[in-house]
Amino acid sequence: MPDGPAFVDLFCGAGGLSLGFLLEGFNCLLAVDNDPSAVACYNTNLRGSFDRGAFLYDLSRLDNHEAIVSFLELYAPGVRRCDVVVGGPPCQGFSVVGKNKIQALVQSDNNLEMYWKKRNEERCMLYESFAMFIEVLEPRWFLFENVPAIMGHDIFPSIIDRFSSLLTPDGRKLDYRLVCSKYIASSYGVPQNRKRFIMIGRREDIKGAGEWKPPETGMPVTVLEALGDLPPVREGHRERVMFYPGSPAGNYQHRMREGMVGFEKGIVYDHICRTHNKDDVALFARMSPGSRFADSEVQRAVREINPEHKLIKYSVEKFRDKLHRLRPDEPAWTVTAHLQKDCYKFIHYNQPRTVTVREAARLQSFPDRFVFTGISMITSFRLTGNAVPPLMAAAFARGILDADVCLNMLASRRSFQDIWNEPAVTENWSGEQIRQGVSG
Ligand SMILES: C[S@@+](CC[C@H](N)C(=O)[O-])C[C@H]1O[C@@H](n2cnc3c(N)ncnc32)[C@H](O)[C@@H]1O
Repeated sequence: MPDGPAFVDLFCGAGGLSLGFLLEGFNCLLAVDNDPSAVACYNTNLRGSFDRGAFLYDLSRLDNHEAIVSFLELYAPGVRRCDVVVGGPPCQGFSVVGKNKIQALVQSDNNLEMYWKKRNEERCMLYESFAMFIEVLEPRWFLFENVPAIMGHDIFPSIIDRFSSLLTPDGRKLDYRLVCSKYIASSYGVPQNRKRFIMIGRREDIKGAGEWKPPETGMPVTVLEALGDLPPVREGHRERVMFYPGSPAGNYQHRMREGMVGFEKGIVYDHICRTHNKDDVALFARMSPGSRFADSEVQRAVREINPEHKLIKYSVEKFRDKLHRLRPDEPAWTVTAHLQKDCYKFIHYNQPRTVTVREAARLQSFPDRFVFTGISMITSFRLTGNAVPPLMAAAFARGILDADVCLNMLASRRSFQDIWNEPAVTENWSGEQIRQGVSG
């Protein structure tokens, strides 16, 4: 693997953000997450790209500079400089998803109110560890990713203040120029209208770097273009290994199959689906593409199929899209970690079932070579929904390279095929010296 510019990924999850940076020719020096399943999934798929692999560690324990320095010395010797720090500290504290449910619980029990307050505060504060890593590593750039709702949160001005007043451990001021905005994944080749908040920071004192601009946008990819070549399966399908029924059609499907070599070329993994009862299957079959729970045709169908259907208890006003059938001719709506609870919002456009793990991964632009071996179906849905779509992450990485001549010189873009077939970077790689040269 060539000595590309280097990044550190904090709160790395299964590796969506990392995969995007790897695609653009960056090398990962360190990735950390406290979820064993996320780390296992990351290492199953991306470990080949660096010897050390992702670390299982609770970043809330690194709440001061000394702790971060000791952590690096102990677990990642040699990582005292890097070009980019990226990360998506957990977003539940800022997210609007599930607020109604929490509110209802809170009203019925005061202790729960305290519990949620504390939990949300802890989560919001995780951006502190991220800020302190920047203060220790002094990267040329950082990328902070989160849900768009963060911009309306009370804590947002404090976050901006924090990243505008960074200080190194020896008290030197670190000035970063910040660019904050919301971006939509479908502009960057992801078949999904997911919006993400991104804050990009560029160190003011570095040479050879200018303004970060979002890269050029392209034509949206539709759900049909994304999923059309996968084999049809029934609800409850649990065989993890299947064969593609035919050849890929179109750029996106070709790209999604990159990285498979030899006999694996014909295989599709993790095309597994939740089990549904017969009422649900009958209902899905009656829903037209794009229709949702609140639509009168769907409400009528629910009652006709079973006057005591379990979905009747859901209020139409509050749960307008409790059920939502994908449209084949548009990008999907946001794939979220809620998939771990149920997949009703992602009913396949022409099969009477919800999406499989492979389909959710494709809607997030994870290639088929990215597998969920040894990870339960529910957890696979969560890891997928939590991720930054790799192709969106790649667009942000490209934005950094376009703005930074020095890093651009070091980067050579990779395909998914390259990522899975290059030899691993070793600990004593010479990129360290090159980076020192450009980061000074
Ligand atoms: C939004 S997800 C990140 C997704 C990731 N950037 C990707 O693209 O796949 C947030 C991650 O933060 C991790 N996390 C939460 N609290 C943490 C902590 N205290 N220390 C380390 N990781 C933590 C979660 O396990 C989760 O994987």
